[in-house]
Amino acid sequence: MGRDGDIRRWKGKGDAKASVRRKMTRRVKTARGRKISSVRWLQRQINDVYVQRAQDEGYRGRAAYKLIELDDRFRLIRKNSRVVDLGAAPGGWAQVAVARGASQVVGIDLLPIEPLDDAQFLEMDFTEIEATKAVIDLLSGPPDLVLSDMAANTTGHPATDHLRIVALVELAAEFAIETLRPGGQFVAKVFQGGADGELLKLLRANFETVRHFKPDASRSTSAETYVIARNFRKKS
Ligand SMILES: C[S@@+](CC[C@H](N)C(=O)[O-])C[C@H]1O[C@@H](n2cnc3c(N)ncnc32)[C@H](O)[C@@H]1O
Repeated sequence: MGRDGDIRRWKGKGDAKASVRRKMTRRVKTARGRKISSVRWLQRQINDVYVQRAQDEGYRGRAAYKLIELDDRFRLIRKNSRVVDLGAAPGGWAQVAVARGASQVVGIDLLPIEPLDDAQFLEMDFTEIEATKAVIDLLSGPPDLVLSDMAANTTGHPATDHLRIVALVELAAEFAIETLRPGGQFVAKVFQGGADGELLKLLRANFETVRHFKPDASRSTSAETYVIARNFRKKS
């Protein structure tokens, strides 16, 4: 696995390949007994070029390419940086952070994560009161970069889902503001067109620049996008 698996070079292979790919679009062989939604999910996975690339290049999931794009664009992962990875399973972002020179990666997730050299993982709910300390205790100093790709499970009740999503990203932002070294960076997945007003206010008060970016690897049908807050201004 190289530093990044160059997405631009890969895209440049042109329309001929895209048309072959279209012709080769594969169908789920047996749909019997599966719900329509899960057949669609399987079909999308099978035909998703990032899923294929992740398999070819040894990443644990297609999400890895989102961080690769974010890092290419915003230069987030520096050599020897300490990185916190919130919502880390199955570990694709942690792989990218390690491959790009982070000296320490601490990830946390509700789900277990396969071990990865140079990364440490906690199987824990980040909303638990003990979570912040557990993460900090594993770090050798303040983080340079806090990443959050956390996505709350949906309940099917839009208002509840929205509140849960907002609460998670706010918690991640508060953690970043409490722990980052001066000049550090924070990236978080947000939904529905971007960070909401309160969160933006908080980030703008604590970071020099705040931007939104939706990587190509993020499905166009998904409402997710990322907020990138750079150059943390630590208040004394
Ligand atoms: C999109 S996945 C992350 C993918 C990851 N960035 C990668 O590259 O492999 C979102 C993750 O957030 C986790 N998550 C959601 N709520 C969480 C919470 N309260 N505490 C910890 N992890 C949480 C989920 O379990 C899920 O694994």
